Amino acid sequence: MRRFYLSLVTIAIAGLVAATANTTFAAGKLTLYCSPQIEWCQLMVKEFEKSTGIKVAMTRKSSGETFAQIKAERRNPKGDVWWGGTGDPHLQAAEEGLTQEYKSPRLPELQDWARRQAEQSGFKTVGIYAGALGVGYNSELAAKHKVPAPKCWADLTKPAYKGHVQMANPNSSGTAYTTLATIVQVFGEEKGFEFMKGLHKNINQYTKSGSAPIKASARGETTIGIVFQHDAVTQAVKGFPIKIVSPCEGTGYEIGSVSIIKGGRNPESAKKWVDFALDPKIQTMAAQAKAYQVPSNSKATPPPQAPDLSQIKLIDYNFKKYGSSAERRRLLKKWDDDVSTLPR
Ligand code: G6P
Repeated sequence: MRRFYLSLVTIAIAGLVAATANTTFAAGKLTLYCSPQIEWCQLMVKEFEKSTGIKVAMTRKSSGETFAQIKAERRNPKGDVWWGGTGDPHLQAAEEGLTQEYKSPRLPELQDWARRQAEQSGFKTVGIYAGALGVGYNSELAAKHKVPAPKCWADLTKPAYKGHVQMANPNSSGTAYTTLATIVQVFGEEKGFEFMKGLHKNINQYTKSGSAPIKASARGETTIGIVFQHDAVTQAVKGFPIKIVSPCEGTGYEIGSVSIIKGGRNPESAKKWVDFALDPKIQTMAAQAKAYQVPSNSKATPPPQAPDLSQIKLIDYNFKKYGSSAERRRLLKKWDDDVSTLPR
């Protein structure tokens, strides 16, 4: 009898251990490749872990770099979800079959531009935020160096700006690729590349990450940065003397996106991340991390500091073309060959 009770207790304990193990398993894991500003990545991870119990391993890399990493890992994918960063390389990843179709139940709540991004990719990516490209400058430094405030893209090739302009490298950075594609759309390809060559003479450094130039400008290391306008707002909100310019010829914009990586180890957790990232309450929290993009869920509240896209002269950015694999590759190669190798 005693032995019988003992075995019952053993079975009960074994059951309990199994149940606990199951709960841990059910809560799951997620490997996140994150491309927006690190403060926002960290806030998202903290909130997701709190609301789902899923443990997240996150690394922050720029959009072009993340695309290259996912492509390099395609036979043995290590990441589950790629959140944020400019939409063009997300579209390229979709076209190259690196990402997985998913239709979030939140899709009907999204702004047209975010839903279009999903439809265009066969639902392999979807828009989470939008932001306009622009120019930011340090007004104290500009006054000190007697550099006039730029008003137009064309200003940035003038000799007065020699050594004063910083932008990212379009291979690693989605921001800089958006710049290259914008310039080609504003001026046409031939004149656009002439512009990029003229600009190259004035560039003091090509950074890896897209927002680095405006952080450098805030620190007084460069007068001007070519960045997304909301990234310049972040530095102004922090109290730095940063002014924002919407170039007079018109400017391009990004549709920051999220994609599930094909063949990832935790596809269920990845779907939960996408639903979470499209949740209006979560999108509204971005301002806590001083991230001032325009959210994609129409029920989310845009941060009051977010640049008002309806007041900016936006070009009709051709995402289909500039997010296509062949065109992105071609433009980057042309920039590498014809622009980046020129002396400064
Ligand atoms: C910043 C912006 C984001 C953008 C990202 C792209 O974080 O706030 O809106 O998507 O840059 O980063 P990258 O380093 O690829 O230019």
